[in-house]
Amino acid sequence: MSSLLLADAAAAAGEVVKVHWAVQLAYMVAIIMFVMAIKRLSKVRTARGANLIASMAMLLAVVATLANGHLLQLAGARVEHAVVDWHWIVGGLVAGTLVGAIGARLVPMTQMPEMVALLNGSGGAASLLVALAVTFQATSHAAWAGAAPTLATFQAAVDATPTAGHSPIVGATVLLSILIGGITLTGSLIAYGKLSGKLSGNAVVYPGQHAINFLLGALTLGLAGYAVYGELAPGAALGMILGVVALALVLGVLLVIPIGGADMPVVISLLNSYSGVAAAMTGFILENNLLIIAGALVGASGLILTQIMCQAMNRSLASVLLGGFGMTTATGTGGGKDEYKNVKSTTPDELALMCDGVSSVIFVPGYGLAVSQAQHLCRELGEALEAKGATVRYAIHPVAGRMPGHMNVLLAEANVPYEQLVEMEQINSDFKQTDLVIVLGANDVVNPAAIDDPQSPLAGMPILNVHEARNVIVVKRSLSPGYAGVKNPLFELDNCRMLFDDAKGALQTTLQELKAAV
Ligand code: TAP
Repeated sequence: MSSLLLADAAAAAGEVVKVHWAVQLAYMVAIIMFVMAIKRLSKVRTARGANLIASMAMLLAVVATLANGHLLQLAGARVEHAVVDWHWIVGGLVAGTLVGAIGARLVPMTQMPEMVALLNGSGGAASLLVALAVTFQATSHAAWAGAAPTLATFQAAVDATPTAGHSPIVGATVLLSILIGGITLTGSLIAYGKLSGKLSGNAVVYPGQHAINFLLGALTLGLAGYAVYGELAPGAALGMILGVVALALVLGVLLVIPIGGADMPVVISLLNSYSGVAAAMTGFILENNLLIIAGALVGASGLILTQIMCQAMNRSLASVLLGGFGMTTATGTGGGKDEYKNVKSTTPDELALMCDGVSSVIFVPGYGLAVSQAQHLCRELGEALEAKGATVRYAIHPVAGRMPGHMNVLLAEANVPYEQLVEMEQINSDFKQTDLVIVLGANDVVNPAAIDDPQSPLAGMPILNVHEARNVIVVKRSLSPGYAGVKNPLFELDNCRMLFDDAKGALQTTLQELKAAV
């Protein structure tokens, strides 16, 4: 409390106080809310509320930051940071709200990963632009022009710019912000291109790739260091820093092209982490504690998610980053219909008949369920089976669909009870004792080749062991492969029947048949 009063007293005495105590307090509340939100995001039941808490925290942070100058003026402090023109702020808020609201309405759930990639890229771009703006201000500032051009001069020039902070590490963080922001921007654009099919999902590899990337990285860091440490005039230093920008943008492209489509989930979460680190660097530039902490939270949680994704796909982070995995994927056998023998098919009538005599059922949702938007019908069939006395559960594979948590979100939207959603590790040993497994638009996550075939591009990826169940019905439109582009031997097993239909159509007819039989 006493420090708050001191800050007010200092403000009243006309000293430079950069952040009003009320704003610091608002930042603290916002940080606590961010941490609470992250905690609650880890459970499906509380995730929706967590999003609301995080957005309220962000609103509080933005309002507090914008109000800071006025509060300081009211307290009689000498103000260095104040909003000079509200038109730009309001214009930015309106434009951002419109893009966000329209995007959220228009983008289907199946394209969320692409949207996340673009949002990561925007985070990187924002950090890059703030750092560039400070660089332009610093290199055109009198403090630089008049003094001997050294690191201290760069630091002093950055210090003297009205928007930048005064910490001794600001000069370095400007360059780190540019470097990480630039890599995140172009890396995310390439990831977006691969996920949306606008670019080939194949891994692009060529001889000497790692050496070239390493040399380019070293050159970028060297140039960044020289721009600050070298005895350069402002113009030359600005030129160097623009060179760092260009190299960072190229590096972003080169680091992501060798990573194949199947490893994109890992890349997306890693780029998410980078965007957080870039934001934290920008926090140092702007001397905004909240931005430093929020950026660090995103950086750390993105890294933890990356680790979880790596484990789910049985990849080491190093092997994903060095690339080439997707190349194996791209040359997978393709899994065309000619490769299958003895595939048995079934119909919705037969499925309805089977539903009559079962006591345990597990639904396995996959990407196709999201495509056909059949989650509500899936829940209805689950309820109908429960009404007949069966135990019903939904098995969730961590990389089913096209983004982390895709199936949880999809089924929660359809009001499937949270306690019926069971993660892979918990449910895998139960398949053996299960009467009926209904696979809805899932393919790679139930492919036993991942266990049996060391040559398969999926080898080593943990799968849902549906092949162990007494009866398996796979609902999909054809024998086409899933994301990894490989044959699925599950379809040929004796206990498996294919129901070739759109998931929505198949579930609709099955439900009708079930109701008609009552
Ligand atoms: P996939 O292996 O991609 O298989 C989806 C299946 O859905 C396809 O075989 C397709 O077969 C079927 N399908 C498509 N539209 C359908 C519809 N309207 N009705 C019924 N079926 C339909 O899906 P999965 O098992 O969920 O595995 C996910 C894959 O994506 C993994 O390889 C994973 O590594 C990768 N990946 C995951 C993520 C994350 S983070 N979840 C991100 C990027 C990539 P038909 O065409 O014959 O119908």
